[in-house]
Amino acid sequence: MAVIGIESSAHTFGVGIVDNGKVVANAKAMYKIGSKGMIPREVAETHLNNAANVIQEAVQEAGITFKEIEGIGYTKGPGIGHCLHVGLLSAKTLAKKLNIPIVPVNHGIGHIEIAKKRAKLRDPLALYVSGGNSQILKKYGDRYKILGETFDIGIGNMLDSLARSLELYPAWGSTVEKTAENGRYIEMPYTVKGMDFSFTGLLTHASKMKGKHNDKDICFSVQETAYAMLTEATERALLLTNSKELCVCGGVAQSKRLKRMLKGMAEEHNIKFGYAEDTFNADNGAMIALVAEQMLAHGRKAKLQECGIEQRYRIDEVKLWKE
Ligand code: FE2
Repeated sequence: MAVIGIESSAHTFGVGIVDNGKVVANAKAMYKIGSKGMIPREVAETHLNNAANVIQEAVQEAGITFKEIEGIGYTKGPGIGHCLHVGLLSAKTLAKKLNIPIVPVNHGIGHIEIAKKRAKLRDPLALYVSGGNSQILKKYGDRYKILGETFDIGIGNMLDSLARSLELYPAWGSTVEKTAENGRYIEMPYTVKGMDFSFTGLLTHASKMKGKHNDKDICFSVQETAYAMLTEATERALLLTNSKELCVCGGVAQSKRLKRMLKGMAEEHNIKFGYAEDTFNADNGAMIALVAEQMLAHGRKAKLQECGIEQRYRIDEVKLWKE
């Protein structure tokens, strides 16, 4: 069953195609983030300009024709309203034109499911870390339960904001990680409460250090502190749920340092640890297609006129399928 998935929740317009769980295409085009961050209207305009080409590219990459596509999924949320609408419009148009079933997909579930699939894990605890989200989750029956999460901003937004306040460009996590190489540790605020955590205090404290310490030491210290917070909360969740597997997913899962820290912790407890390749941790259409294929196989198609977007669409609202 060839299913196409459209992702447009933030800076990426991604189109993926899966066939019986196998990714056969994963095309994408990205909005370049400048010093002002993401301007929703501009990002949406970029997606509109790229949409037709990326869809065409994915179909070519899969080596199929449009007629062979049997279902479509799109990101319903969470994300930026302007951007989500472009994906919704593209998906509805394709569904109508090709006369195929459509299903809305939660972006976070896409990240978790593709990590599970690529890492060959069956029932992992998931640490989902991206720009807007930072959560610890586990699937019980046909639903994910959020065991822990950020009290304020997502870790990715924190790292992007830090980069902007230190005037490091492109302002995102990988630039912070590169700057942090060979840095020395400076004391930073550390906030973990049970399995929840908070990043704004850390960001404010670090931003005030600009000029007083070098960028290398600030980036290193923020990174070590934030990742240690995530690792501590994840360790607690692993032990409380008696989980035997762990995956990390989402944009920030591209960080080598975070993966090293989690791997070390998982090894201490004899827990199998896995993650997807970077291209599937960055936003992509394949993860949406993967979830859509499963949802359609479980009869979850939606009525075209009822398809919409939800900027704050939480993972635990979604009824999935039992394994
Ligand atoms: Fe994402």
